[in-house]
Amino acid sequence: MEEERLVTSTYNETDSDIENVLRPKSMEGYVGQDKVKDNLAVSIAAAKMREDALDHVLLYGPAGLGKTTLAHIIAHELGTQIKITSGPAIERAGDLAAILTNLNERDVLFIDEIHRLNHNVEEILYPAMEDYTLDFIIGKGPSAKNVQLPLPKFTLIGATTKAGMLSSPLRDRFGLICRLETYTIEELTEIVERAANMLSLEIEHLAAMEVAKRSRGTPRIANRLLRRVRDYAVVKGHEKVLLSDAQGALKMLEIDDLGLDAIDVKLLKSMAEKFGGGPCGLDTLAATINEDGNTIEDVYEPYLLQLGFIARTPRGRVLLSRGYEHIGLKMPESKLKQYAIFERQDENK
Ligand SMILES: Nc1ncnc2c1ncn2[C@@H]1O[C@H](COP(=O)(O)OP(=O)(O)OP(=O)(O)O)[C@@H](O)[C@H]1O
Ligand SMILES: [Mg+2]
Repeated sequence: MEEERLVTSTYNETDSDIENVLRPKSMEGYVGQDKVKDNLAVSIAAAKMREDALDHVLLYGPAGLGKTTLAHIIAHELGTQIKITSGPAIERAGDLAAILTNLNERDVLFIDEIHRLNHNVEEILYPAMEDYTLDFIIGKGPSAKNVQLPLPKFTLIGATTKAGMLSSPLRDRFGLICRLETYTIEELTEIVERAANMLSLEIEHLAAMEVAKRSRGTPRIANRLLRRVRDYAVVKGHEKVLLSDAQGALKMLEIDDLGLDAIDVKLLKSMAEKFGGGPCGLDTLAATINEDGNTIEDVYEPYLLQLGFIARTPRGRVLLSRGYEHIGLKMPESKLKQYAIFERQDENK
């Protein structure tokens, strides 16, 4: 896709300038995720009392929910330095060894996309996490020697959107495993209001709520929509962002009241009209919007699944009754029965 899509949760270039500005710096500013915050608060307090490094932390959950933000906040609360890298950036075991030996006692090492570490690098990480030692072999053949070097006691914070892709030896070495959840509308409203505040922007409560409702449970999307709504209000000559600005801007951007854009609707419509509600394969579906299967899986599908508009079946994706309703159609009787089990499962969630 040439054009930038507004409602994807994945990071894009236009986010970079603003994301650092809007990133809350402390736990108080970090809205929601109460369970995770409570857990972390206890462990952080305990580590500080023991004057010890915090246990290694794994943060996982969909893109844009605040993993990177939380990693920074943890380091801030610990009062330590944070060193930032990512799975794909560490090419060789030696690269990681260099990073580890340069850490100070109790520092945080943040590895983003930790599921993308290569195997050799991961092997270095195991003893480093477990015993704070660097294990490596010098030389080759009979004269090869196993060498161990002590490392400073550090905290590894790993972030991933794909916890399932982490090897179990790696996963098992994290003392704290935190799963981030999508945010409620109330939480997102607060996030929008705080962000507006940081941008010195006045916004009506109802306008903030309107942005929140269409943000797919994701702060990154909320912040992005807020910027577009702000521009709209500026053009209208309003000093304060009004509900009508939010509605007008979002209408212009073709983002509907659930946060679906024209591409989501196109997907739903082709499922209904071209494929009789499915089941249809990922690639077939992808072709209808000129994307590849992976993009559908990572970017478009999660929210549609969450809304209960579609379901994954062993034979492919199917459109469910709520999906039909959203595009103004009715699910055929025959399909209603056939896919009833998916509807029910979804409602129990
Ligand atoms: N709990 C929160 N409270 C307030 N703002 C938040 C919160 N979580 C995220 N944000 C905002 O959303 C933006 C994106 O968050 P962040 O970069 O931490 O997401 P991420 O989970 O690391 O995404 P990715 O998987 O793409 O790396 C941040 O710049 C921040 O402004
Ligand atoms: Mg991140």
